[in-house]
Amino acid sequence: MFAMTPNDTLASTAAASPHGAANPEISHSAALPNRAYTSYDEWLKERDTVIAQTWAGLGFSSDIAEPGSVFPIMFMGLPLVMVRDQQGRARVFHNVCRHRGMQLVAEAGDAGLVIRCPYHKWGYDLSGQLKTTPNIGGMGVHEVAGFDCADHALNSVRCDESMGVVFINLSGDAPALPAHLEPLLSRWRELAGPEFDQQLIADAGEFGSMELVLNSNYKLAVENYCESYHLPFVHPDLNTYSPLDAHYNLTVDPLASGQGTRVYDLNRGDSGPLPQFSEWDRERLKTAEYLSLYPNVLLGIQADHFFVILLLSEAVDQTRERLQFYYAESDGVGDSYRERRESLHAAWSTVFAEDISVVEGMQRGRASPAFDGGLFTPLMDVPTHHFHQWFLSRFERNTTRAVS
Ligand code: FES
Ligand SMILES: [Fe+2]
Repeated sequence: MFAMTPNDTLASTAAASPHGAANPEISHSAALPNRAYTSYDEWLKERDTVIAQTWAGLGFSSDIAEPGSVFPIMFMGLPLVMVRDQQGRARVFHNVCRHRGMQLVAEAGDAGLVIRCPYHKWGYDLSGQLKTTPNIGGMGVHEVAGFDCADHALNSVRCDESMGVVFINLSGDAPALPAHLEPLLSRWRELAGPEFDQQLIADAGEFGSMELVLNSNYKLAVENYCESYHLPFVHPDLNTYSPLDAHYNLTVDPLASGQGTRVYDLNRGDSGPLPQFSEWDRERLKTAEYLSLYPNVLLGIQADHFFVILLLSEAVDQTRERLQFYYAESDGVGDSYRERRESLHAAWSTVFAEDISVVEGMQRGRASPAFDGGLFTPLMDVPTHHFHQWFLSRFERNTTRAVS
């Protein structure tokens, strides 16, 4: 049986509202100011304080599927590269040669055993060690006195994988990723089975992913995802089969907030149901939950599929959304379920496309000096308030730490 947590607003006030507990105290809480969404300087400060101190999503494990795979990404202005090493471990490096600062990897692909700089052809192994320095002592002489390759490994970034996502911790001193994710994973292990997160099968096929670019700060996508208040007006079709009053608020301290529904329909459409997670709580097959895992990972869990959206902040006012679908069993990505995967992909594409105009509209609104962060309504904005509290407490704490 699923145990409700003290943070579960459904648990505390199921009788009061389908959504959960109203909290009038949040109405006048501090909210993020416009500059948190519009200022380039604030964006960099946020990266080096709030985001650096925690775990952020960088890419998918499937981006670096095989030993030798490399995948470059600009992360909030930082050139990084994900690498799968020879032992099968994910690694992340600053994507810059130790010699003259050339970008090392320009395109995703297979580097083989060596990542070679395009400029003077220095070669790094997949663990980032500098191994070869052609002509460093003159033509045909590959060593020189006073230069030791062992002193010039690539600068690495702490990383770990969970739910098919490569996470990074730029500061290097956050708690280990499994401990960080524990409040969220323990909630969903009770719902979906104790090993659901180990069993996810990424769909590498035609309907396995999607990508969108939003002209907005990534935090507005987080905020829009974690509330269901906009359902009737922004997603009128979705609201016919998963209406607002079937949703409830969720807060998972300290790292996530969102919403759930009690009426997810496994049999919707005429293409037949997908395989379900074998240990999903049978009493709650119609439960589905959608959580914004701060700062930049959006998650959706249903009895027959799972998805992750990475919000990659490419500029203070531009965000790339990368979505990956996962299924409960390898059969789920086979030919017999192709039609069902296609219809799921189409349904979610419609929903996420409908969100674009409101997220971009909120970004445009933040050019107005007449807007001061707005307000949080006592019931519907509980998840959004939770995100702002998370952000503000870390921004203040880490800015203070950086200054002192
Ligand atoms: S800049 Fe990379 S080898 Fe010179
Ligand atoms: Fe939406």
